[in-house]
Formats: sequence, structure tokens, C-alpha cells
Amino acid sequence: MAEASFTPRVFSGIQPSGGLTLGNYLGAVKRFVEMQERGVETLYCMVDLHAITVWQDPEALRRNTRQLAAFMIASGIDPERSIVFNQSQVPEHAQLGWIFNCVARMGWMKRMTQFKDKAGKNAENASLGLFGYPALMAADILIYHATHVPVGEDQKQHLELTRDIAAKFNHDYGVEFFPMTEPVIEGVATKVMSLRDGSKKMSKSDPSDMSRINMGDDADTIAQKFRKARTDPEPLPETVDGLADRAEARNLVAIYAALGDRTMEEAMAEVGGQPFAQFKPRLADLAVEKLAPISAEMTRLMDDPAQIDAILNRGAERARAIAGPILDRTYDIVGMVR
Ligand code: TRP
Repeated sequence: MAEASFTPRVFSGIQPSGGLTLGNYLGAVKRFVEMQERGVETLYCMVDLHAITVWQDPEALRRNTRQLAAFMIASGIDPERSIVFNQSQVPEHAQLGWIFNCVARMGWMKRMTQFKDKAGKNAENASLGLFGYPALMAADILIYHATHVPVGEDQKQHLELTRDIAAKFNHDYGVEFFPMTEPVIEGVATKVMSLRDGSKKMSKSDPSDMSRINMGDDADTIAQKFRKARTDPEPLPETVDGLADRAEARNLVAIYAALGDRTMEEAMAEVGGQPFAQFKPRLADLAVEKLAPISAEMTRLMDDPAQIDAILNRGAERARAIAGPILDRTYDIVGMVR
């Protein structure tokens, strides 16, 4: 496959389903900013069509979509350099999604672990959209011929499915039209863990608010949550290797490293050997220093929803300029009368 013919283009998406955490920042948005800084073309999407695969209150969805946009912009995504937009404003996603519903196989979808996790025991009562979610995700990516997708570990399987769909489409129609997109899973904190349990992902839906840092938490709350974060009684080890069997300690050092743009080795060179009573306040200070300006800017942007909407409208226009011709060509390949 002539992959060299696809120019590098980065796409990623986040669901506007509310409750933004430090995990969304370090695991996703901060990495989106880094990709933007490398000078490749970047598209970042609020995937509202994905959000409604489970029930969303309409007013909350609207607010969460604007809040997610505000979060991205406040974190350093520049709507001039990146294309920042809302999925439902670019109908080509849903249009290509339908074609991919006809390419993807039932058996492929049934194997998706995110569906099994989200549908739980009551899969019969899950929406058809939740089952088909990964085909729409493939469309999000391939409607731009995106070559790279920064995501977390948990999305690897969806990226494999995206490649399976692209390959089957190319094969069935005898074309080399869609690229084989690669996930980009790099950085020290691609998966931020719960502050209460180092084996669980930090999550907005964890019943304990102490398990996570929310993007809106004030300085005192952040300090308190890190102070109370679960750890073992030993001081930090001297080296990165020493963190291997210490999930909670490792998570806190990874957060420290990611916030301060350090590698794990650099972080350990600074804080290795420290007792938690010394390390935790230092971590809290760094977190407050980095997160306070983001929450302040988010609040400012949220006071002016018209400005956010203008940014999203403009982003959608720019996105459609890329997606439109790719959808046209897809329809031609498939045999739709145009
Ligand atoms: N499935 C992703 C998640 O749950 C969100 C998503 C939807 C996405 N479409 C995407 C991520 C396209 C990357 C690319 O986090």
C-alpha cells in the first residue's frame, strides 16, 4: 500500500459527556497541543454524535460541548493552527459512517471490549449506536485521510478496527483510497490512574471525587486530593525501575513528570528518595501552577459562548473543505449516482 502518498495529518476526538479530569488533560489534550506544535496539520473534534450513544440531557450536551471546546482552547490548542470543531456540524462523518456500517462485519464489532464494558450485562438494551460506535469512529478519522491519531491505550483496538475497515474497503473496491492510520500512544502519562487505586483509570464516573483531579478544582482541593492520595508507606525509590511494583507511587511520579514536561528519568533524578510528605506538596504546587491558568481561561471563555460557537462554526467550515471531496470520491467509488 502506497502509504507514502498520504500526507501526515493528525485527528483526534473527545466525547463531550462532561466531567473533565486531569486524565483528559495529560492523556489527551496536552498531547494534542504537542502535535500541533510539531507543525503537522491537526484536527480536534468534540464527538457529540458518539456522546449520544448513551443518553445525554440536551442542555447538558450543549453545555458540555462548549466546555470541552473551552478546555481545548484554554489548554493551548490554537483554533488558527488546528481545526477545532463539533462532529455533528460536519455531516460527512455520519455519511461516511453509514458506508462503513456496510463494510464492517458484525463479528468484528462484537469483539470490541469498549462495547462490552459500556453495555455491561444488559447488552440487549444498549443502543444500536453504541454497538456501531467504532464504525463512526473510523469514519471520523478516515473522512480526513488522517494518518496519525493520538489516543490512550484503551483506544488501540478501535484503531485496529479502523485499519481493518480501511483495508476491506480498499480491497472490496480495488482501490488504495484510505490510509492505514496509526495510533500515537506516547508520553509519560498516556494513562492517568485513580488517586485511590493505582490499578484503575482516573475517571469522571468514579463514585469518589477524591479519586480524581477535576479541571475546575481549586488550589486547596488539588492540594488536599494529592495529600490524601493512596500510597505505600515507603519513600520514593531512587530510580524508575524501583517504581515497577508500586502502582500508586508510579502514577504520582508520572503525573509530576507529565505536568513538568520531564521524562520519568528526569523526574526521578529530582524527587527520587523523597518521602511522600515532601513529594506530595511539591506535586500539588506544580499541578496548581499548571492547571489554575487553564481553569481561569476556561471560565473566561465559558462566559462568552458566542465566541466559542464562532470558533466551532469556523472549524466546521474548514473541516468540511477537507471532508467534502473525500466523501464525494467515496460515493463515486461505491457507485452512487452523483
Ligand atoms: N472513542 C474515543 C474515546 O472514547 C473518542 C473518539 C471518537 C475518537 N472518535 C474518535 C478518538 C476518533 C480518536 C479519533 O476516547
